[in-house]
Amino acid sequence: MFSSTKLVELLPMLDGKFYYAKELVSSNDTAAELIEQGAGSGTLVLAERQSRGRGRRGNAWSCPAGEGLLFSLVLEPDIERYEWSRLALAAGLAVVDAIAKYGIEAKIKWPNDVWIDDKKCAGVLIEGCDNCVIVGVGVNVLEKHFPETLNATSLLLEGGEKVSREELLADIVRRLFFWESRCGQGFSDVVEAVNAHCALKGEMVQLTRNGERVTGMMIGTNLDGHLVLECAGELVSIAQADGIRKFRE
Ligand code: BTN
Repeated sequence: MFSSTKLVELLPMLDGKFYYAKELVSSNDTAAELIEQGAGSGTLVLAERQSRGRGRRGNAWSCPAGEGLLFSLVLEPDIERYEWSRLALAAGLAVVDAIAKYGIEAKIKWPNDVWIDDKKCAGVLIEGCDNCVIVGVGVNVLEKHFPETLNATSLLLEGGEKVSREELLADIVRRLFFWESRCGQGFSDVVEAVNAHCALKGEMVQLTRNGERVTGMMIGTNLDGHLVLECAGELVSIAQADGIRKFRE
């Protein structure tokens, strides 16, 4: 059982801003409702279970009750709206940093996934309201089994037997505020860190861009936050893509 008291002890800035629920439809939806009622930056919603957790591109995000971290953090970032997508990279980095404390090396699979050894252990879903951004994060923490089709892993399966969900969440939130502060002028720091933890770097990958297949070598992320592939000797910058995976001929 998650302890709200312990979380607030670890991160006193959450006092009065933390909402815990055993079950929600989606923590992002609850965060949006709280924003309508006047909640602002630093509001954090955590659900033990979601009946309709959302991933990117209409995918579902499901997790057995109490085994993951399913949360949404409200931010009012001091950046332009077109820069909000940078927060997905910031959130991925926050998860990578927090996991490192347990000796587990995770990587960012551009733009919104965190991988450990070619398997997904966390995902980020950014949704915007009027002046606020809802950063929804799902982290697999205590799961022991996943359907093979999911290609997923958890911190427990990767050697993180001692992970406390309260400590992990406090660390992620701390790091998320840090990386948020680098999403404006300091964005090159984010890009540098993302490239230092880039999944599939140097590998041939295939993805879909505007319905078209693109194949190339993974180079990393550029200062626009776009993915860069080397395709037939040329660097190609990709702003949006689906289904990025290793290319096997
Ligand atoms: C993805 O990998 O496609 C993103 C997954 C994001 C899941 C989290 S769980 C907490 C928050 N609430 C949701 O409904 N989705 C995000």
